[in-house]
Amino acid sequence: MKIAVIGTGYVGLVAGACFASKAHDVICVDVIKEKVDKINRGISPIFEEGLEDMLHDLVPRKKLRATLNLKKAVLESELIFISVGTPSKDEAKFDYTYLEQATKDVGLALKEADDYKVVVIKSTCIPGTTINLLKPILEQMSGKKCGKDFGLGFSPEFLREGVAVYDFMNPDRIVIGGVDDKSIEMIESVFINFNSPIMNTDPTTAEMIKITSNSFLAMKISFINEMANIAEKIGSDIKDIAKGIGMDSRISPKFLGAGLGWGGSCFPKDVSALCQQTKEVGVPSLMLESTIAVNKKQPLRSIELLEEALEDNTVKGKKIAVLGLAFKPNTDDMREAVSIPIINSLLDKGAEVHAHDPAAMKNAKEIFDSPNLFLEEDPIQALSDAEGCILVTEWRIYGQLSPKTFKGAMKTPILIDGRRLFDSKKMRTRGIKYFGIGLGK
Ligand code: UDX
Ligand code: UDX
Repeated sequence: MKIAVIGTGYVGLVAGACFASKAHDVICVDVIKEKVDKINRGISPIFEEGLEDMLHDLVPRKKLRATLNLKKAVLESELIFISVGTPSKDEAKFDYTYLEQATKDVGLALKEADDYKVVVIKSTCIPGTTINLLKPILEQMSGKKCGKDFGLGFSPEFLREGVAVYDFMNPDRIVIGGVDDKSIEMIESVFINFNSPIMNTDPTTAEMIKITSNSFLAMKISFINEMANIAEKIGSDIKDIAKGIGMDSRISPKFLGAGLGWGGSCFPKDVSALCQQTKEVGVPSLMLESTIAVNKKQPLRSIELLEEALEDNTVKGKKIAVLGLAFKPNTDDMREAVSIPIINSLLDKGAEVHAHDPAAMKNAKEIFDSPNLFLEEDPIQALSDAEGCILVTEWRIYGQLSPKTFKGAMKTPILIDGRRLFDSKKMRTRGIKYFGIGLGK
């Protein structure tokens, strides 16, 4: 099948490469020339495990190309995926500027088409957006009728950054929301050999499935984080509790990793936007409000633990090390990373912060602006002479730091393990003042 993918972010480019690897002919569209040029040279403009190897293979074989020319790409394709970003606007709303623009451009191209095509929205949006906002734009711009002259659908992505290629190739399910059977059938035909159950529904339900999935996962994390804080008080270990409850197949062990909370480009904006929509439709969600409230407080639990551990209970005037800045390991992405409120609070409280991250230093430089924050080249430099350390992101290289390293580098070896990366017994028996989220003293 001939496929156009508009927007070559981590969702669009991964989708394009994976479709091409399944023998479809893919043309990717972006507004940034540099990205288009890189893709056409077989170089990935973003880091995603396995993606560049796929481009190396697909581009010379002409299974995947990139262009700035959206109209041409639409005219030569049967299916048009739109996967431009929908960042958050005013905290609780999605910004549809790019999505509306891309939809307008697709509509204008459809005006000149003489065959039946299906437009598939992949960008995350509030339930109702495809039908109430995008369908009228397509009809107006093309002068054609949706459901008769062209098809339309919403098919969400469930891709985790860093492992997006794996997730795309091995989906738990594929959800297709189409305006009619013909649209659904066309969309289904590109997913047929993905060896996954396919669920067909209408576009609004598909949009709701996407945003509810992310909200549920975020709720699961907020729930275990709240239980972690209780476990600390009753002298238990949340890891054991999570293991015990996760063995119940109805609960499952996934997304029960207690820590300092969730961040990233999706969970925060999706949960906030759905929470806002529940208010707008007159059924405000207490569950979503609590999910967000717990997550707002959770990063600061690391500072409370640190203050409790310090002899004079204050970080003021002290050198504090922060290990990990990215919102999760294996990415340089700092969008809504919990390291941001943690570092800002440490600075507000008068600490001198020495931070390190293996990948996110460049992004961090653009976020923070304080003479009391030092971004260090390596973790040992960050730990050097520190009176306390908070582990914020569970990068594998930090897990290799031994008790001896902490003791040798730090002035006082207080370690607050915000992601339960280290072996608590090993740390405690070898002289580290170790405190972990969800671990009783
Ligand atoms: C995706 C989804 O689209 C978003 O809704 C979801 O919530 C997260 O995943 P992402 O791939 O992260 O977004 O977006 P981004 O990295 O911003 O990439 C979007 C791409 O679209 C960029 O390369 C941008 O240059 C391009 N773009 C943007 C266009 O081609 N046309 C436009 O009009 C605007
Ligand atoms: C998420 C969804 O998983 C994906 O399906 C969606 O479409 C895009 O958003 P992503 O944001 O890349 O993916 O990361 P994910 O691995 O889901 O982690 C999100 C956040 O939750 C991270 O900050 C992570 O540290 C945190 N998390 C995750 C926990 O705190 N505990 C866990 O057990 C799992």
